[in-house]
Amino acid sequence: MADPADHWWRDAVIYQVYIRSFADGNGDGLGDIAGIRSRLGYLADLGVDALWINPWYPSPMADAGYDVSDYRDVEPRFGTLAEAEALVTEAHEVGLRVLLDIVPNHTSDRHPWFRAAVEAGPGSRQRERYVFRPGRGEAGELPPNEWPSVFGGPAWHRVTEPDGTPGEWYLHLFAPEQPDVNWTHPEVQADFEATLRFWFDRGVDGFRIDVAHSLVKEEGLPDAEDAADLEWPRSPVEVDGRLERAPWRPHPFWDRDEVHEIYRQWRRVADSYDEPRVFVAEAWVDEPERLARYLRPDELHTAFNFTYLQAVWDAGYLRRVISETLDEQGAVGAPATWVLSNHDVARHVSRFARERDVPGSSLMQLLGRPADLALGRRRARAAVLLTLALPGGAYVYQGEELGLPEVEDLPDDVLEDPTWERSGHTDRGRDGCRVPLPWAGERPPYGFSPEGASAAPWLPQPDDWGPLTAQAQTGDPGSMLELYRAALSLRGRTPALGDGRLAWLDLPGGVLGFTREPGFACLVNVTGDPVPVPEGYGVLIASEDLEDGLLPAASAVWLTSNTR
Ligand code: NOJ
Repeated sequence: MADPADHWWRDAVIYQVYIRSFADGNGDGLGDIAGIRSRLGYLADLGVDALWINPWYPSPMADAGYDVSDYRDVEPRFGTLAEAEALVTEAHEVGLRVLLDIVPNHTSDRHPWFRAAVEAGPGSRQRERYVFRPGRGEAGELPPNEWPSVFGGPAWHRVTEPDGTPGEWYLHLFAPEQPDVNWTHPEVQADFEATLRFWFDRGVDGFRIDVAHSLVKEEGLPDAEDAADLEWPRSPVEVDGRLERAPWRPHPFWDRDEVHEIYRQWRRVADSYDEPRVFVAEAWVDEPERLARYLRPDELHTAFNFTYLQAVWDAGYLRRVISETLDEQGAVGAPATWVLSNHDVARHVSRFARERDVPGSSLMQLLGRPADLALGRRRARAAVLLTLALPGGAYVYQGEELGLPEVEDLPDDVLEDPTWERSGHTDRGRDGCRVPLPWAGERPPYGFSPEGASAAPWLPQPDDWGPLTAQAQTGDPGSMLELYRAALSLRGRTPALGDGRLAWLDLPGGVLGFTREPGFACLVNVTGDPVPVPEGYGVLIASEDLEDGLLPAASAVWLTSNTR
């Protein structure tokens, strides 16, 4: 019999620590390892099972740490390797596992490999670790193909050769400071494996894999059949009760079949440890059957469910996304995961504050539309009860437990996301969901940095966040924080929750409901009116107080069967 500890990941609630904005221990305005260590008690009390920490490696920070210059060390602004090791030990002592974030698609342009590649010139061995090509056009002045960068503009940058002439181009699916590596190169494969082992040997429990679906590019680097195929990400549209997607077809760089062999090899590494290590894929693969391929028994353990994250707040749509996920991932024996927010998308309080008919993670198309933040918060409260009641694991993005909204009015001159510049100032990017957390007090920095800090938080915090601090919400039974604490604690004590199955209840339109055995039911009222709660149940927890036995608009409830 396998040790149940080996399966902790099947229903873990994993808290995402966006290190730059979690807690600043040394007063320089940037979050750090010391800050995380000082808040481990808060995280353990919250009731989560594990942490996923965004990249903390040495980095020039062209993309907030997703441009890594050394995979086996710690960025000095975040701390030291010794502090990282101490954090892993201390987290384990309070019952929290630790996942790191590995970035295998690209390195920083300051990584020694890339520097060597530029210096060594065309045709060199050093260039083979990346994707260098001559340009098109008479003098090589045009990029080798039409691929766009996710952050805007072309996915190619031209280098100046050591002799000073304009030279080859290199591929960067993200910023120019993030050159894509060549995954067909044996040294690349061996080196990333060494990185996995480096951190696993230090007790790290697993990795989130950054853009896990992009590592392998089609040979010959051809253009896509249709420019629309290059848009990213895509999400399904609901048509007559079904989720409709454009038919899947092979793509020159997303989700190539060859990528799976890499993960089979990584799985062997993870399984070679006494307590096997785990992986979660960040793969924006919209087709559920394609996503499930990453979760076959000899590949990755789990994947983020971005179709759920992008879902429209509509009972029918949500039910279909949930069913589809459970069916497809169940078919390969993998548990589902559920996520509402992360550091790349607008915070869900603000998404839910807008009426949307189109799915999508970005708030950009919603900006300018009227927002009802009180409604956004109500829906967010309901959404977390739904999320934590579903079979499988769940993610909590730091600050969602405080009900933080997106900060939509950051001044232009503080924006750091490369998207802002690369889009020619048309897309404000992701800084609005990355604002440093408010811990205590009435004014910025709200305890994010210690008293007497030498610098202000790296992004300005709104002046009206006093009531949203962890301190202000603690002990207030109506607060978002106490809802999260109560729901997480109940989840841990309720045998029906976590891994397993659900059975849908047939309820009137606009109401989502399911049971889980033994004796549990969850109801979500997505309509604008109160709805009756089925008979024979008692209330475990509700996102809003029930009124005369009715579940109010935009709320959810966990129920326990009276016959148990
Ligand atoms: C996905 C990460 O979550 C995002 O923040 C980053 O910009 C890209 N991958 C590129 O590494």
